[in-house]
Amino acid sequence: MKNFHSTLSALILLLFFSCEQESKTIKSGEIWPDNNGIHVNAHGGGMLFHEGKYYWFGEHKIEGKAGNKAMVGVHCYSSKNLTDWKDEGIALEIIKDDLKHDITEGCVLERPKVIYNKTTKKFVMWFHLELKGQGYLAARTGLAVADKVTGPYTFVKSLRPNAGQWPANFTKEQKTVEYDYKMKRWTDEGRTAVVNGMFLKRDFEGGQMSRDMTLFVDDDEKAYHIAASEENGTLHIRELTDDYLNFRDNYVRVFPDESNEAPAIFKKDGKYYMFASGCTGWAPNPGRSAVANNIMGPWTNLGNPFKGTEDEMKVSFDSQSTYVIPVIGKKDAFIYMGDRWMPEDAIDGRYIWLPVQFDEKGIPYLEWMDEWSLDFFD
Ligand code: GAL
Repeated sequence: MKNFHSTLSALILLLFFSCEQESKTIKSGEIWPDNNGIHVNAHGGGMLFHEGKYYWFGEHKIEGKAGNKAMVGVHCYSSKNLTDWKDEGIALEIIKDDLKHDITEGCVLERPKVIYNKTTKKFVMWFHLELKGQGYLAARTGLAVADKVTGPYTFVKSLRPNAGQWPANFTKEQKTVEYDYKMKRWTDEGRTAVVNGMFLKRDFEGGQMSRDMTLFVDDDEKAYHIAASEENGTLHIRELTDDYLNFRDNYVRVFPDESNEAPAIFKKDGKYYMFASGCTGWAPNPGRSAVANNIMGPWTNLGNPFKGTEDEMKVSFDSQSTYVIPVIGKKDAFIYMGDRWMPEDAIDGRYIWLPVQFDEKGIPYLEWMDEWSLDFFD
């Protein structure tokens, strides 16, 4: 009997661990229950792999339209297999008792990304911040730091980067043009002006606008902040300082006036790839992709990475990019992480995760899969 009991408990333990380790299938667009049976609440998210676990950070949304504002903070989940998610709580909390605080309740805090600094041993979170009551006018990026991966993260500052600094790929000529800032944005004249940096010039003294964003840490531990700038017309890629807490004066403009948002970057065989979207708010649009030999550019457009019917491609399988997860321990295995926003009931937003595939020329693309598992990469 004793033997029977110990065999039984050994079996139960084995079952428990194999369930825990073995990844399940990924069903994009469905409810993804965490360890408490509650749909994962981490929108516009990013992933950090640290000491054997993945940590998913994203916007905690609440019910209804009000849920599009930051009422709670940045939520963190952990997993060893990318399919069983443990709720690690709110990593960065919104400030409730100080109405003047940059991250006061009701601000807009989007697309948080966390990276780990091996030298300072700090976890560094950057995010898109819009000050309360100002719509999307502030266009700032915010910084919070923690000693532990799951937090608590302490708010450090928010700013518009690179005040008083010119991008590396801005010409002498572009620097000297004077603009009539009342010029209409969507006329030929307006567009030419935007391509040539009209908004960049306007914001030169106060710092550059920074909205949809991501972070990328390269093999040499240098980190980059990639954000929609210049009224969402142009992406900016900026190098962070060694401690990841500030910007270097080194930044570039990418795809001027092409209106890219939702950037996500990954690296394969020494090349940098980017997924992004167009600018249509919560509504999906045709995805975009690009490649570069150097993260600071030049970047080459690779077109819409979504492969499917015309209708599916027009809306990127009803998703918008937020991050690309490199799967640890598998070669050339990357997961597209996208959001299917539900602006009318923000908390109900869904996650679209698809394996990144590569065609014979090495160009990344994404195909719809109702259900797939990490075995896909084997
Ligand atoms: C999207 C953006 C989201 C959010 C939304 C608000 O374009 O990617 O992060 O800012 O607009 O309308």
